[in-house]
Amino acid sequence: MAPLFIKEFGLLTHAFDIGCTMAVGFNPGVLSIEFPENSFHKAVSDTMEAAFYRYVMPDSLWKLQSWLQVGKEKKRTEAWKAFDDILTHYISIQRHKSEKTMASSDEDDDFNFLICYLTGHEITGPTPKESLIRDNIVSFLLASVDSYSLTLTWFFYLISKTPMVEIKIRQEIKRHLSMEQVEGLQIPSNFNDLSKLTYLHAAFNETLRLFPPFPFELRICTKPDFLPSGHRVDRNTRVLIGIHAMGRMESLWGEDCYEFKPERWISEEGKLIRESPSKICAFLAGPRICPGKELSYLLMKATATAIIHNYNVHVLEGQNISPKNSVLYQMKKGFMVRVKNR
Ligand code: HEM
Repeated sequence: MAPLFIKEFGLLTHAFDIGCTMAVGFNPGVLSIEFPENSFHKAVSDTMEAAFYRYVMPDSLWKLQSWLQVGKEKKRTEAWKAFDDILTHYISIQRHKSEKTMASSDEDDDFNFLICYLTGHEITGPTPKESLIRDNIVSFLLASVDSYSLTLTWFFYLISKTPMVEIKIRQEIKRHLSMEQVEGLQIPSNFNDLSKLTYLHAAFNETLRLFPPFPFELRICTKPDFLPSGHRVDRNTRVLIGIHAMGRMESLWGEDCYEFKPERWISEEGKLIRESPSKICAFLAGPRICPGKELSYLLMKATATAIIHNYNVHVLEGQNISPKNSVLYQMKKGFMVRVKNR
């Protein structure tokens, strides 16, 4: 097969298809080499950019922009309008479907957040008003889609620079996974076996250390308190958690802190070293730790093994890979690779 040039690698569209399937029960099928324009993606990107400017601009300035409806704030308003339209559409389709299912008392094996909300499932509780359903689903998609796809994108970027890591991942796949043919693609026949991929897990930990999808997080104190360091914080103090900076601190990770070395996560006995979530806090720590953490590793391993096992991925030379001004650690101009069948 002739090499295929893939614009921006397509991992975001793949993650969006998965996220929508979990959230609203529809696969929008935006993963396509034609890369059709997707209004939800654009809305996510504009929201994240506007959120970044809210961090760095004086409050009075972004509030003025919001009042005048100019600049990033205008884009943000348009993005929320797009979320509204898209979600209202999905809610109405799913509402119709759930009413039909209940009327016919057919067995329905659909399981997604939207259907849980609409049917008052015990997981989500009594059906809330539509605006709350919409906000929760948008939050879920914002929290899950980009974080997972960005980690995978940086992972492929990092292994393209360290071919030895890719070789070791291939050896591990060969040792632990049996593959089956599905629609022309070799994929793991038993997803439970993905937990045996210690080296791949370590490579994702290393990716999340160097390129956390949320490079910083903001917390605001509701009452006076002391940080573990002993520093006093007053009510309304803003605390910015430098997740990206922490992943590159010599005092935490040693002199080779800038190097991509999955080996640092593996003990002499070949076991995965479990660091405290307060040290590697890409998923944050404590009560607000990401509820999708374990699922993320599973999804990332499933996608990475399928790609690495079936294809050779070469990064196109001469790209300027630099981060975008956003609360997400995104590549400014995307990521161009050439994909060849193995
Ligand atoms: C590598 C992938 C991921 C990373 C690094 C990540 C990281 C995070 C972080 C840092 C937060 C906290 C945000 C905050 O409180 O300000 C968060 C929240 C959340 N994440 Fe993830 N996430 C990932 C993937 C996922 C996936 C795949 C799902 C869903 C299947 C998910 C679902 C959520 C939800 C629902 C929240 C909100 C929880 C709340 O409001 O307390 N995440 N995530």
